[in-house]
Amino acid sequence: MARVASGVVVVTARVGDEDHAMTANSFTSVSLDPQLVLFCVQQDSRFHDAIHAAPRWVVNLLSAQQAPAARWFAERGRPLAGQMSLVEFERDDDGIAVLTGSIGHLGCTTEEIHPAGDHSIVVGRVQRIVYENLTAPPLVYLDHRLG
Ligand SMILES: Cc1cc2nc3c(=O)[nH]c(=O)nc-3n(C[C@H](O)[C@H](O)[C@H](O)COP(=O)(O)O)c2cc1C
Repeated sequence: MARVASGVVVVTARVGDEDHAMTANSFTSVSLDPQLVLFCVQQDSRFHDAIHAAPRWVVNLLSAQQAPAARWFAERGRPLAGQMSLVEFERDDDGIAVLTGSIGHLGCTTEEIHPAGDHSIVVGRVQRIVYENLTAPPLVYLDHRLG
């Protein structure tokens, strides 16, 4: 799979007073009508528990300048408390973090979650699409490198 180029997103969610975030390259579109998307999440990650608890979440579509954020939200064991202080962000109407400098973001609600091997496939219904920097080059993951 290393030779398959993909885009990179950070999925953000809020459970109680705690921000959760995870870098993912498994994000893809599923259906246009209704508008559905998916990403896969490892079952032994903390984000797996978070996404089961959070009915709403945001998919931040990363631009090339956001490689540091992608690395940070991929670091296993990083402290959850204060993890957002290392990046620039705003909050949407649901209080979920939206990363500044992204190409855009999707506000989603959970439609279905399917166990699949050691991951779960999270299917989301798109409630809102906001484009911010459409001309910014996207962040790409290829050969285990972000660029
Ligand atoms: C470029 C990149 C893409 C990733 N894509 C995924 C993914 O699609 N699904 C996943 O479960 N983890 C993915 N990871 C790993 C998670 O970001 C990482 O395990 C994260 O810290 C979640 O663990 P935590 O919730 O326990 O902190 C990716 C890591 C990188 C660097």
